Amino acid sequence: MSESTNIVWHESEVTKQDRRELKKHKSVVLWFTGLSGSGKSTVSVALEKELHGLGVHTYRLDGDNVRHGLNKNLGFSPEDRKENIRRIGEVANLMVDAGLVTLTAFISPYREDRDHARELLGEKEFIEIYVECSVEACEERDPKGLYKKARAGEIKGFTGIDAPYEEPIHPEVTIETDKQTLEESVQLIVNYLKQKGYIG
Ligand code: PPS
Repeated sequence: MSESTNIVWHESEVTKQDRRELKKHKSVVLWFTGLSGSGKSTVSVALEKELHGLGVHTYRLDGDNVRHGLNKNLGFSPEDRKENIRRIGEVANLMVDAGLVTLTAFISPYREDRDHARELLGEKEFIEIYVECSVEACEERDPKGLYKKARAGEIKGFTGIDAPYEEPIHPEVTIETDKQTLEESVQLIVNYLKQKGYIG
């Protein structure tokens, strides 16, 4: 890929702050990370519904969905996962600039890649949500039958089986989907957002 040259940043006259004032809530990325089958999609879908009901303008980016379009040329090698997460960080950054509460649901297995997204967004606009669930419980659920395929050697480099997952060290929020109900997980996140003044 060649890099862009001779490009100049062009400022808009309507700022992120102007857009936020219109919406009456802050914009932020809620970055879900966790194993396949841990519940990232389920929790983020339920949370988005709850937030929408509270009058929050949201948008959700999800691994399987984004890989159908924007990232359809990427696989699951470490390099491709890195590029996947880099692009998602950039897209999430645009959405936060647009004034949205953006929910991202990607395994995002590498700490370094998540930290790059955090740096790009800035501490106040990046909330890492660790969707904690043991590999055993994820494998037991196996909603897409992928763990079975990975165990059978039909999928190589499957996260948690023969590819790494690096747990967050200081996530802003941790939910334990093998111990809490879906409603409890959603409420925990909503309470965090209220406490920190992201939403009213
Ligand atoms: S990553 O690691 O962040 O780039 O992955 P992500 O974009 O979130 O995509 C994860 C979904 O892809 C399916 N899938 C795999 N996951 C992990 N490892 C391998 N090798 C793999 N191959 C396909 C799987 O459905 C993941 O969905 P979730 O929702 O996480 O179960």
